[in-house]
Amino acid sequence: ETIQHYYYDEAAFDYHDRAYIPLQVADAPEQPLRIPEILKPDQETATDVYYTITAQTGAVQLLPGKKTATWGYNGPLLGKTVIFKDGQTVHIHYINDLPEVTTFHWHGLAIPGPIEDGGCHAPVYPGQTRDVEFTIHQPAAFVWLHAHPCPATAEQVWHGLAGGAIVQDQHEAQLPLPRNYGVDDIPVILQDRRFHEDNQWDYRQDYDPDGILGPTPMINGTINPYFDVTTQKVRLRFLNGANRREWRLHFSDDLSFTQIAGDLSLLPKPLKMTKLMLTCAERAEIIVDFGSYRPGDEVVLYSDDTPLLRFKIHEFKPDHATLPDVLFETPNPAVSPEMPIHYVTLDGMDEAVAMNGKKFKMDRIDYQMPMHKVQLWDIENTNHAPGMIHPYHMHGTGFVTVARDGHAPNPNELGLKDTIAINPGEHVLLKVWFDVPGVFMYHCHILEHEDGGMMAQLKVVDPKNPNKQYQLMDHMTL
Ligand code: C2O
Ligand code: CU
Ligand code: CU
Repeated sequence: ETIQHYYYDEAAFDYHDRAYIPLQVADAPEQPLRIPEILKPDQETATDVYYTITAQTGAVQLLPGKKTATWGYNGPLLGKTVIFKDGQTVHIHYINDLPEVTTFHWHGLAIPGPIEDGGCHAPVYPGQTRDVEFTIHQPAAFVWLHAHPCPATAEQVWHGLAGGAIVQDQHEAQLPLPRNYGVDDIPVILQDRRFHEDNQWDYRQDYDPDGILGPTPMINGTINPYFDVTTQKVRLRFLNGANRREWRLHFSDDLSFTQIAGDLSLLPKPLKMTKLMLTCAERAEIIVDFGSYRPGDEVVLYSDDTPLLRFKIHEFKPDHATLPDVLFETPNPAVSPEMPIHYVTLDGMDEAVAMNGKKFKMDRIDYQMPMHKVQLWDIENTNHAPGMIHPYHMHGTGFVTVARDGHAPNPNELGLKDTIAINPGEHVLLKVWFDVPGVFMYHCHILEHEDGGMMAQLKVVDPKNPNKQYQLMDHMTL
């Protein structure tokens, strides 16, 4: 029972939309895949960890010739990998060394909003700093940090403000999974860019209200990357960090692989597959077994027909470890009887995008719900096929996918998720609850749709502190 399709109409939207830009291999030599370093804590105790994260400008040799001007966290491009441990209290000192305001959003962390969460109400102005503190209470997962100023999230992420973070917990630590970071456990951040004259990016010139695309795959900030395989099994932590592109992933020889985790948790069971699609902001962890290859062989990861990453096989020791049949028990709390279904519509395309018929407004709260109550949310994509898939994302929580148009969700959606593809015309039913209070955004994660207004925000009310007021920004001046 190997899954051999993507669970959706392949590339339907791409054929329909004349603005689609297919991927293309860059005319450039191959380079070793950049593995982001692990971010060193400033200090760590048994219960607390302290980090400094600086948003900065830089320049990187991505192609032969001129360096590309980029932005990054604690480095010129993307970020260092941050480690969070379940139960730990995290203290972060943010520094903004950019020429404009930014925010630091933890996509996938269940931490209070709007300040710790780092959406548009937590600005850090140029030359300024901000300190936050929060405690991690969630299962092991691969989450991420990205800029979230409104309405310039798309442009700042395009400049390079995105980085991965690994949440570790006791349960995952005991499973026989590869976890030697950089050797058999590697992040794979999937992005695309267009290089203009002198190897520069030009967001304004390439702008598309339905999401910017570039023809050149960029993996962990590397063009034409390869990775040296020195173990039989390698765990890849995919993150779709592109503004708008979907990745339809598969390997040469139709090599099958095992998906073990989705966005915010391990999957209930390991799933064998040959094809995996990721919409914007989604994550998937897979284990690839190179046991049938010999030193000197090459295995290629593709999206559609374009090679993304070459795995060069070296000598390795045989690895006969098998995965348990059960990896994770997805929480499934009963719906609170007093909570009616909450309906969300994702409307329109281009400049006309909206949510429930309205464009996002920073100082408007669109919905309220009490903390710890469990509610069904019905998310509808009101586009008709072959319109765009909207990757629907919620801050501050992980949800359970209950149904797609009345059918069972796809088997690789049965763990906790924070982002889910909604096909044109489709209704996806989610079970939603919050264990932290505050103001949180929910939106399409095509970043230009988000900036364009396909976004809303809710207030999660702590029954112990029901009158807490939140200071909301009404606009942000870059
Ligand atoms: Cu990845 Cu509003 O977030
Ligand atoms: Cu988010
Ligand atoms: Cu969208």
